[in-house]
Amino acid sequence: MKTTREKLEELHQLREQALLGGGKKRIEAQHKKGKLTARERLDLLLDPGTFQELDMFATHRTTDFGLADQKIPGDGVVTGYGKIDGRLVYVFSQDFTVFGGSLSEAHAEKICKILDHAMKNGAPVIGLNDSGGARIQEGVVSLGAYADIFLRNTLASGVVPQISAIMGPCAGGSVYSPALTDFIFMVEGTSHMFITGPNVVKTVTHEEVTFEELGGAGIHSGTSGVAHFAMTSEAECLQGIRTLLSYLPTNNMDDAPVIASNDPINRAEEMLDDIVPDNPNHPYDMKEVIRRVVDRNSFFEVHEDWAKNIIVGFARLDGRSVGIVAQQPSILAGVLDIDASDKGARFVRFCDCFNIPIVTLEDVPGFLPGVAQEHGGIIRHGAKLLYAYCEATVPKVTVITRKAYGGAYDVMSSKHVRGDINYAWPTAEIAVMGVDGAVNIIFKDEIEHAEDPEAKRQELVNYYTEKFANPYVAAGRGYIDEVIEPRHTREKLIVALEMLKNKRDTNPPKKHGNIPL
Ligand code: HXC
Repeated sequence: MKTTREKLEELHQLREQALLGGGKKRIEAQHKKGKLTARERLDLLLDPGTFQELDMFATHRTTDFGLADQKIPGDGVVTGYGKIDGRLVYVFSQDFTVFGGSLSEAHAEKICKILDHAMKNGAPVIGLNDSGGARIQEGVVSLGAYADIFLRNTLASGVVPQISAIMGPCAGGSVYSPALTDFIFMVEGTSHMFITGPNVVKTVTHEEVTFEELGGAGIHSGTSGVAHFAMTSEAECLQGIRTLLSYLPTNNMDDAPVIASNDPINRAEEMLDDIVPDNPNHPYDMKEVIRRVVDRNSFFEVHEDWAKNIIVGFARLDGRSVGIVAQQPSILAGVLDIDASDKGARFVRFCDCFNIPIVTLEDVPGFLPGVAQEHGGIIRHGAKLLYAYCEATVPKVTVITRKAYGGAYDVMSSKHVRGDINYAWPTAEIAVMGVDGAVNIIFKDEIEHAEDPEAKRQELVNYYTEKFANPYVAAGRGYIDEVIEPRHTREKLIVALEMLKNKRDTNPPKKHGNIPL
């Protein structure tokens, strides 16, 4: 019989074994690839000394393929809870050194336990993914185990923030757990996501493609939009997750943290008075507007490299988190296309789930015309953004800086879709369409039959501009609450959001709506 001392020693030995994961050799191999181990990542992610591990001794139950003799405590994933900036978070970190981080039944049970805790206790879940996918030796049991995670990801959606970091391979159906979460981070060079790898692609479609070209961080953050952030190193990625969390509440019943700001509320930005060029077809940088309006250095852009004609991200105004949605007139004139609509809609819905007020900065010439857009379903995709703004009940404050044309005027948090406070700059042009297009349509005959058609056209352009391309028609009807000097935008936003602090609005009771997916 073991003595008490021996039993304590046994615990220490078992722990040592678990901490080594797949062993020194595999840890070295992991480092050689430029990757950290599962535990090293948690050390960087969490506040020092706060990690509490669960299920360190869980092992798989497979006896096939000689696995009965290969049991490694923890079974390829390190799970538990800890703190980030003093706030509770749940974490799982897949250990590639143990069966390639592949997902067994026991491995999945550990992740499910974390998700269950997170939902009951109302705290975010962060998953660090580094896995060869389903544990091949476990067959359908592993597939079922994945589905157990998918179900929990879905049930947790909108209850607690879920963040995924891809820090190695993430292939096959295993991509769908991250895809169900709110934000995906990838690391350049070492992380890959795809449904089927380059070999299968070659067999099926005869396309030759590398891992990086098929599903690297650059592709998913810039082309597919699957990833929200591409980071240059694992350390930067883990720091990025910490920064993102600083804008978010821990659950859907909570408020985001307020971070004291010494940036004056009434800081006027004179340069904003001149930022919109005299020529309405000339671009300017909306990011400059955002940076000058929000608390200094507080803008944290999401989806920076994808659908750049729309900008989304978090920021603070007088220390409080807001979600910013803005057109970027310097990219495709800020037009709304398929990807911009998807990007904006998903972000608006996230903010609404988690009680983060939405600030919309609008300069939009409309939806992008064209066969490719129509055939790609711009109607369906544009409707997502419309739906998202319509259903959002969080405080919504809008500033029209220049163009608000056509359906895009309605979509972008207009008064008609429950915008709470709608401002316009004096440069705002709120109309059914741009001046040239409008004049060519409604005055076609007059122009054609004029003695000097070009002079007539110019005269009508001036008339139309005077009559419609301004904020005062909308202001006259109360669609715009106030026309403001651009330099005072920061103060106006802060005062409006302060007024809306206790806003309560609801949607009709229903099981759930049917957003046009
Ligand atoms: C069991 C696995 C494994 C897996 C890797 N390993 N993937 N064990 N199940 N899925 C093991 C390897 O046997 C090896 O063990 C160790 O992990 C490291 O793998 P290597 O191949 O040596 O590493 P590397 O060269 O870096 O290649 C990594 C890899 C490759 C690209 C991920 O291992 C790979 O292609 N694995 C299979 C990927 C895959 O097709 N998975 C199924 C996807 S379908 P030793 O003992 O030698 O260290 C899927 C369905 C989910 O996941 C459906 C949900 C709905």
